[in-house]
Amino acid sequence: MARKTGPGKKTRSGKRALAKRYPCYLANAPIQPNEDLEVLDKYTGKVATRTAFVGAGVVRKAIVAAHQARGAMADFAPDRRRDVLEHCVRRFRERSEELALALCIEAGKPIGDARGEVERLIDTFRIAAGEATRIEGETVEMRISERTRPYRGIVKRVPIGACSFITPFNFPLNLVAHKVAPAIAAGCPFVLKPAAKTPVGALIIGEILAETDLPRGAFSILACSNEDAAALTEDERIALLSFTGGLVGWDLKARAGRKKVTLELGGNAACIVDADPGIGLDALVDRLVFGAYYQSGQSCISVQHILVHRDLYETLRKKLRARVRGLVMGDPRKEDTFIGPVIDEDAAKRIESWIEAARKGGAKVLAGGPRERNMLPATLMEGVPRDSDLYRKEVFGPVACLQPFEDFESALDTVNASDFGLQAGVFTASLAHSMLAWDRLEVGGVVVGDVPSFRVDNMPYGGVKLSGLGREGVRYAIEDMTEPRLLVIREPH
Ligand code: SIN
Repeated sequence: MARKTGPGKKTRSGKRALAKRYPCYLANAPIQPNEDLEVLDKYTGKVATRTAFVGAGVVRKAIVAAHQARGAMADFAPDRRRDVLEHCVRRFRERSEELALALCIEAGKPIGDARGEVERLIDTFRIAAGEATRIEGETVEMRISERTRPYRGIVKRVPIGACSFITPFNFPLNLVAHKVAPAIAAGCPFVLKPAAKTPVGALIIGEILAETDLPRGAFSILACSNEDAAALTEDERIALLSFTGGLVGWDLKARAGRKKVTLELGGNAACIVDADPGIGLDALVDRLVFGAYYQSGQSCISVQHILVHRDLYETLRKKLRARVRGLVMGDPRKEDTFIGPVIDEDAAKRIESWIEAARKGGAKVLAGGPRERNMLPATLMEGVPRDSDLYRKEVFGPVACLQPFEDFESALDTVNASDFGLQAGVFTASLAHSMLAWDRLEVGGVVVGDVPSFRVDNMPYGGVKLSGLGREGVRYAIEDMTEPRLLVIREPH
């Protein structure tokens, strides 16, 4: 039985956000099992809404439905897939303020960042709508000797089959979009498990997908526990598992059997500021502050390390410290809030303990302050010991570590000493240094002239080393979700 929920919060357009109990979606249809998942308002700590919460039995049913739907999805013509994606784009636009407010409440994302994420959700579906009718093959030249002269070869790409998707809390809409939209474009049915702390964004996407004529079984979106989701990793009927989240992704890969696995597991991104950064210092500080602290650093490509050439170090340090100290922390619904809560108090305590350990190890806190519940002020450190958690691991919070360097190549070595390799940023006026960074840095992407936190949703995005396997960015995800199938034709004798 659905329990009554609170009255919800009013959006700018007057509509209510989070005003109901959200159903899950099994084989395209809403389901309202008895069990509830409480979704907290991450700022107030109060229950904001409830969603349906399913068990392992429903997850298995969804897998069976997706597996059975793989033929129908493969036959669902590309123009119809495009129409579905375009329908979503229209509906996201119509519901954009409601979506932004939902994000703001369920993820604690400052409203400006939340609106930005809705824009990107729309972009990702728009890109996928374009790609749906552009999944092309190639001809293969077979005539390599006299023996092979009568042969012709053509390759097309076919959908891989049923996919399972597991998504994190930090982008409850757009990181869902990066799996769902390419799957629809590629013709793959899927079962998605959104993060239990932030399931609402994905369930609204489900509500909109349920308005379309996707073949039955094409999608299931299920809020459930990690234990009950085990089959998404282990079931052999799933052809591809795409996971975005923490390092637990490597354990999932080990349990995934024969299925293809793509992993986006985060990083501790660095940004190098060269002696001549090729940008005015105030603009540079703006970008660094954005890269390190937007949505409280809860992004896999948030700037965690700022490496500054010795010639600029003192000046930049002063400017950065002043800016970071001035960042407004508070209610994410308020337009001028820059720093909202981190996802929960446990995360805040972990980050606080890492800061404290680094401080005890000799680091200096240039900006920062005491934690209150899950609110952590923007923190800037220097002299952070290289063997500390704060230096080596992924902080996923509003903390950046500043360090000077003497020469550019040593800065590249310092960045490469990380166990992670997702993206890196380089501010330099030197073309030679830009090329050297691109050649040497062991990362999935180098951003010159901006922070590593920069992302456009059609670019290849993913990492090396501990950061993961494979790339997202719609077209790149479609490549993973399709397989080449060759046709060989022998000319008539
Ligand atoms: C992530 O945190 O992995 C995604 C970052 C982004 O899409 O901007």
